[in-house]
Amino acid sequence: MTLTNEQIINAHRAIGVIDSGVGGLTVVKEISKLMPHESVVYFGDTAHMPYGPRSYEEVRGFVFQMIEFLRHQEIKILIVACNSATAAGLSYYQKASDLPVLGVIEPGVRAALNGSSSGRIGVIGTTGTINSSEYEKALRRQNGSLHIVSKACPLFVLLVENNLVDTPEAKRVAHEYLDPLVREEIDTLILGCTHYPLMTELIQNVVGPSVQLINSADEIAAEVGEILNKGNMINPLNSEKPRFRFFVSGSPTPFEEVGSKLLNRSVKAYQVTLPSTS
Ligand code: DGL
Repeated sequence: MTLTNEQIINAHRAIGVIDSGVGGLTVVKEISKLMPHESVVYFGDTAHMPYGPRSYEEVRGFVFQMIEFLRHQEIKILIVACNSATAAGLSYYQKASDLPVLGVIEPGVRAALNGSSSGRIGVIGTTGTINSSEYEKALRRQNGSLHIVSKACPLFVLLVENNLVDTPEAKRVAHEYLDPLVREEIDTLILGCTHYPLMTELIQNVVGPSVQLINSADEIAAEVGEILNKGNMINPLNSEKPRFRFFVSGSPTPFEEVGSKLLNRSVKAYQVTLPSTS
C-alpha cells in the first residue's frame, strides 16, 4: 500500500470529542465500532456539568476552553458531542476553528426523519437544548407537517453522571417526564442529549416497545467517517493500536466508573484545570 505524506500525518492525529461529562462517550463508542483504528482525545468538562441549565454564552465560553486545550493535542476533526453545547452555538465553534467541527443535532434529526412513519416525533433533552428549539426548527425545515412534542428532562444527566440509573427514583422521574409524550402517541423519540443513551433500557421500558428511540451516535459516527474519507484523513495504518486519552476538569473517579462500564474497557481519566476553573 502506498501512502501519501498527508495520509501519514493524519494517521497519527486523533478524533477530538467534547462534552460536559460522560455523555459524549456514547459517541466515542460508535466511532470506535465503525473506525477501530482511530485514536480519540476526549474532554469532559465535569467541573461545569450540567450545561443544560446554563446560559448559551456561558456554555460557549466553556466549549472554547476545551477547544483551546484540544488544539494542542493533534486532532484532525472535532465533535461537539453535546446537544446543549451544539444548541448554544455550533456555528461559533465552526467559525473559530480551522478543523471540521461537527455537532450532534442535525444527525439526530436525519435519523428521526428516516425512522418515523407517523410523523409524530418526541424530543427530549436538557433545558438549554429544548429551550433553543433547535431540534424543532431542524425537523420542521425538512417537513412542516410533523407533530413534534418536546420535553426537557434536566434530572436525567445527573442520574447518569452519578450512576443512579438503576434506582426506583430514576424510574419515577422517567415516568414523570415521559408519560406525557406517550400520551401524544409518538412513534419516535429523539434522545437529544448524549447522556440519554446510557439510560436506554429505562427509557424504552417507560415509553414501551412501539416507540423507536433515536440515539444519534451511530449517525454521527457515520458522518465522521464520511468527512475523514473525503478529506483523506482516515488512519490507513491497520497495524496500529488506537490511543484513547481522556481528560476531565473535575474529579476523574465517577467519569472512569461510568466510562469503563460503557466502553467495556478500563478508562483512565486525567484531571486538567482549565483557566476558568482555577
Ligand atoms: N451530554 C450533554 C448534552 O447532550 C449533557 C448536558 C448537560 O451537561 O446538561 O446535552
